[in-house]
Amino acid sequence: MGIVFSEVAAWLYLAVTVALGGTVLCKLEKSPRQVGRGPSYLVGLWGAACLLSLPFYYGVTLFFLSCSLLYSYLAGQELLPVHHKAVLITGCDTGIGHVLSKYLDELGFTVFAGVLNEKGPGAEELRRSCSSRLCVIQLDVTNSTQIREAYSKVLEKVQDRGLWAVINNAGILGFPADGELIPMSDYRQCMAVNFLGAVEVTKTLLPFLRRSKGRLVNVCSMAAGVPLQKLAAYSSSKAALMMFSGVLRQELSKWGVKVIIIQPGAFKTNIAGTNEMWNKLEKNLLDALDPEVQKDYGRDYVLALRNFVRSLPLMCSSDFSPLLLDISHAVSAKSPFAVYTPGKGCYLWICLASFLPASVFDFLKKIELGFFKKMKNGKHTALQK
Ligand SMILES: NC(=O)c1ccc[n+]([C@@H]2O[C@H](COP(=O)([O-])OP(=O)(O)OC[C@H]3O[C@@H](n4cnc5c(N)ncnc54)[C@H](OP(=O)(O)O)[C@@H]3O)[C@@H](O)[C@H]2O)c1
Ligand SMILES: *[C@@H]1O[C@H](CO)[C@@H](O)[C@H](O)[C@H]1NC(C)=O
Repeated sequence: MGIVFSEVAAWLYLAVTVALGGTVLCKLEKSPRQVGRGPSYLVGLWGAACLLSLPFYYGVTLFFLSCSLLYSYLAGQELLPVHHKAVLITGCDTGIGHVLSKYLDELGFTVFAGVLNEKGPGAEELRRSCSSRLCVIQLDVTNSTQIREAYSKVLEKVQDRGLWAVINNAGILGFPADGELIPMSDYRQCMAVNFLGAVEVTKTLLPFLRRSKGRLVNVCSMAAGVPLQKLAAYSSSKAALMMFSGVLRQELSKWGVKVIIIQPGAFKTNIAGTNEMWNKLEKNLLDALDPEVQKDYGRDYVLALRNFVRSLPLMCSSDFSPLLLDISHAVSAKSPFAVYTPGKGCYLWICLASFLPASVFDFLKKIELGFFKKMKNGKHTALQK
């Protein structure tokens, strides 16, 4: 009798575990992050390894526990229904914000697209090509009046449906130059847009997010965690935004608001600017430059700085899909990650900068820079031929 009972119990235990494994496989196949078949095969292999290499009960228990863990992880990765949830994005005239507002609009969100110039071509394009849900709003993130007006407009439109997410995306790069050469006005401008702008937008709109238990998504940068030459002003402002986001993540958890950091690598957008913009920024830099410092660096060196800006697109990817997938996951997954690092090699560089001794990291960066210079020269000679 006892033997029959324990045999039945064993079969039952195995059946439950296999069923759980099957559910996990189904969830993996339907995973929104397009993980492919690989993880499913791994689950199968792991199950076989547990059952074949360990005594029956130990093997089944280990597999059961692994499946439960994976199940609860995957359940958190499921996407919440869109239901016309409202999101506000800043800096939608061009680049990431522009593409993102179109993408979220297509997914069915009600998008408030904040633009620096509501009469500009970017704003026009959004009005023309998106659904009637999308609402373009004038929002210079350095202008407190416009931020308050944005709050009122959102309130008027969503009323008690509420605002689900704020995506602080507006940002400027400034003129890349050695930290000693960057004028104070550029440091201030980077801080004003990239950091203080995002902080003020956040503070103004947080009451919405606390009510909806929604999402605050801050677009920082790989540069916030990895020292990159010539980007002192930009990177410092992004590092400030990143720490602000980390602190708010802890503070707002008691309100059920999730704070998410996006640290993109390099994507091809308008952020590097135009010839016209470089002329202005270069003049600004030269005007503010101490004559002594200019003599030490050499005027030719200063004038050659724009070659660096020109070469930026060479490092950038024009495929925005990793970025769009990550940001939409941050906005709609039940349990989004705290940090996303879309872009080739981005996560690797962040890890290297965090864990390697500074001297080793700097050496690696030097090698990379040399390699990059060679590649650039190669392209130039190819163009001249
Ligand atoms: N592209 C990348 O590789 C990369 C990498 C890491 C992080 N990021 C970050 O991603 C975000 C989007 O950048 P992007 O690459 O898409 O550059 P972008 O094409 O220049 O887009 C930034 C947008 O912000 C707008 N903007 C500038 N100042 C503003 C202000 N005071 N108030 C409101 N909007 C303002 C710009 O308007 P105008 O066009 O009229 O100036 C532009 O439409 C930025 O925060 C950037 O730092 C980008
Ligand atoms: C801020 O925005 C308001 C309202 O659009 C505008 O009247 C004002 O001139 C702006 N201020 C600055 C400094 O741009």
